Amino acid sequence: MKNPRIQKPSAWRRIAAPIAWLIVGAGLAPATHAADTSPAQQLERFSVQAGAPGQPERGRVLFTTRQGGEWSCASCHGNPPTAPGKHAGTGKAIEPLAPAANPKAFTDTAKVDKWLRRNCNDVLKRECSAGEKADLLAYLQTLAR
Ligand code: HEC
Repeated sequence: MKNPRIQKPSAWRRIAAPIAWLIVGAGLAPATHAADTSPAQQLERFSVQAGAPGQPERGRVLFTTRQGGEWSCASCHGNPPTAPGKHAGTGKAIEPLAPAANPKAFTDTAKVDKWLRRNCNDVLKRECSAGEKADLLAYLQTLAR
């Protein structure tokens, strides 16, 4: 015969243990969608991929000049991008891109990747190379507010 008084603690543990692990896991797991990185870490990431440190001056030239298309990066983000930008197509406001002027810039790896892919395709008609991304990041991090 089963005694419900004995079963109760183990049933509780069956429920409580996974919940406890969920709470622990949520605290320890790196958030993949927000505030998981920093501008310095992104510069490091692209420099390692490129096998060379980013060069700010090359990044500045890439950022501020058109690359055969209608827009440069500065067309939407401004020159220098230390103030809010304005989308060249829609007119929508864009938060400043320079980390010195926007503490949220380059703090979300997925966002960085998504927008670099989209914006490089807009401006260069192809994805940016790791070296170009390192140059861009190096440039943006030289900017002061
Ligand atoms: C047609 C307009 C446009 C052009 C041109 C453009 N961008 Fe953007 N960019 C945007 C918009 C809009 C966002 C999203 C802003 C937001 O959500 O805060 C963005 C976001 C970004 C982000 C993400 C920033 C973050 O918060 O981490 C990066 C990096 C970026 N752009 C780089 C570039 C670079 C480099 C170029 C040139 C190759 C470029 N952009 C050209 C419109 C543009």
